[in-house]
Amino acid sequence: MLDGLRRLEYRGYDSAGVAVVNGELLTEKRAGKLANLEKALADDAIAGLDEGTTGIGHTRWATHGGPTDRNAHPHRSSDGRVAVIHNGIIENFGKLRAELESRGVEFASDTDTECVAHLLAEELTTVDGATAEARLAEAMRRVCRQLEGAFTLLAVDVRAPGAVVGARRNSPLVVGRGVGENYLASDVSAFIEHTREAVELGQDQVVLITGEGIEITDFEGNAAEGLDYHIDWDAKAAEKGGYDYFMLKEIAEQPQAIADTLRGRLAETGEITLDEVRLTDQDLRDVDKVFIVACGTAYHAGMVAKYAIEHWTRIPCEVELASEFRYRDPVLDRSTLVVAISQSGETMDTLMALRHAKQQKARVLAICNTNGSTIPRESDAVLYTHGGPEIAVASTKAFLTQLAACYLVGLHLAQVRGVMYADEVAAVVEQLRGTPSKVDRVLEQMEPVRELARDLAEAKSVLFIGRHVGYPVALEGALKLKELAYMHAEGFAAGELKHGPIALIDQGTPVVCVVPSARGRGVLRDKVISNIQEVRARGARTVVIAEEGDDGVARYADHLIVVPPTPTLLAPLVTTVPLQVLACEIASARGHDVDQPRNLAKSVTVE
Ligand code: F6R
Repeated sequence: MLDGLRRLEYRGYDSAGVAVVNGELLTEKRAGKLANLEKALADDAIAGLDEGTTGIGHTRWATHGGPTDRNAHPHRSSDGRVAVIHNGIIENFGKLRAELESRGVEFASDTDTECVAHLLAEELTTVDGATAEARLAEAMRRVCRQLEGAFTLLAVDVRAPGAVVGARRNSPLVVGRGVGENYLASDVSAFIEHTREAVELGQDQVVLITGEGIEITDFEGNAAEGLDYHIDWDAKAAEKGGYDYFMLKEIAEQPQAIADTLRGRLAETGEITLDEVRLTDQDLRDVDKVFIVACGTAYHAGMVAKYAIEHWTRIPCEVELASEFRYRDPVLDRSTLVVAISQSGETMDTLMALRHAKQQKARVLAICNTNGSTIPRESDAVLYTHGGPEIAVASTKAFLTQLAACYLVGLHLAQVRGVMYADEVAAVVEQLRGTPSKVDRVLEQMEPVRELARDLAEAKSVLFIGRHVGYPVALEGALKLKELAYMHAEGFAAGELKHGPIALIDQGTPVVCVVPSARGRGVLRDKVISNIQEVRARGARTVVIAEEGDDGVARYADHLIVVPPTPTLLAPLVTTVPLQVLACEIASARGHDVDQPRNLAKSVTVE
């Protein structure tokens, strides 16, 4: 169980705990990283915690109640009979807690989860069923019917020693089918060492596992079928493979990840084939507006996509933070295509945005890295990025593969709608094919960036500027630095500086400048150079990312980082990479945990 938790720790890591049924119900839990729990277990005199064969374990990302020992999961009922772990938020927990307290129940934590333990214990005193396991499953169904919000729940009952019951609504839970043993987890990586056969659960379902069987029902108790599938990725892909951090490994995997995302989708003829996108050519011809919804890094990929999609297709395209989308009542109809971008496929804000879009009859296309996750399941169509598992909390290869997928969508739309000539599409396809080796070249030249990182590690604040697609790259560079190095970092559209933010520039303030390609008319490039001069004139220390061969740039750069020449719209695939390395190395120089930055979680399944 601890091995499984270690693999899932990236999802949330402010406390951890386990419960084991072994004659009695034994629990141990600790605030902080999993290592604290492991130490407590090693020091523990609790006999039997390492001997049971039925148990549940959890790593937490706090929502209700701070990250303390008492708020860590599992939570037990007052009678000590059941233990529960939970992901998500139980929105009506205030009411449920008041009702339980009025019946004399005493709470031992500030969490919403604890209600479930007490409710289960209450239901277990009255519930019918032929066996203790059946009674546990029925009690869970009864409890689920009282809950509002999003949840994955697992529970064990000391009187059903060989069983674990699970339930899910709007939050991930998968079953691992073993031989004489079965597993439940929010992500297959937790049990991949033991089995590669998985069962996907539907919405609002309860599952009971024992060593011998898996029984799935809906919340009313009607039998339901899970969807069996085989996990084909390699467990090694989720291990560090010699790198100090998963993030460094994932940065290094980017050329392969982009190539894998493009594979099979770029025909020799220069055509884009997206066979798995279940939208007909007619559906795509009917589209008169595109909305992209996403969060964080995926949102930055969406910002880049907007430039490409509008330019190639001439369809108006808007990009919106998923958490804002539904609350502002956007104008959507059957001819709107909503593109939901999500690495995990479980981000609640993005899921809610896509549900809103579907209610308004828009068609939804997901761009996602996680097979079988909720967002692609609920979308009309999906284009999977083939980035492989991304374990570091800060997104890197997911971003570049999201970009690649967005380019494919833009070109496909342009091709189907006849707005680009075949040879124009083929020319961009050719350029796209060349991007993995360009990223490789960038990665080979990262030593100066590492040195620079050591130099910048003490800076108070770092600013990032860019224009056009360089603007989202600047935002992404700043986000990486904030989340990993806990430094003040901000990205700006370079032209916007003079309207206020330039006041932030002081003697020595580092400003990272993303310079567009000098090829073509180079208008954008010249404008950014002017903006660089403006910040230098005010004392900034400039870190300039520019194209190889742009010899005129060096004189404006205190530090110059060159990347291979790449057409403007595709340039974020190469210009982002040094910014990822810079953030990773600054965080490491400041002594931070690069893979698991504070306060964050990989999969944000709450709104
Ligand atoms: C930043 C980061 C987050 C995610 C965001 C969306 O490095 O990883 O900003 O990009 O939480 O997550 P997904 O793509 O899983 O929907």
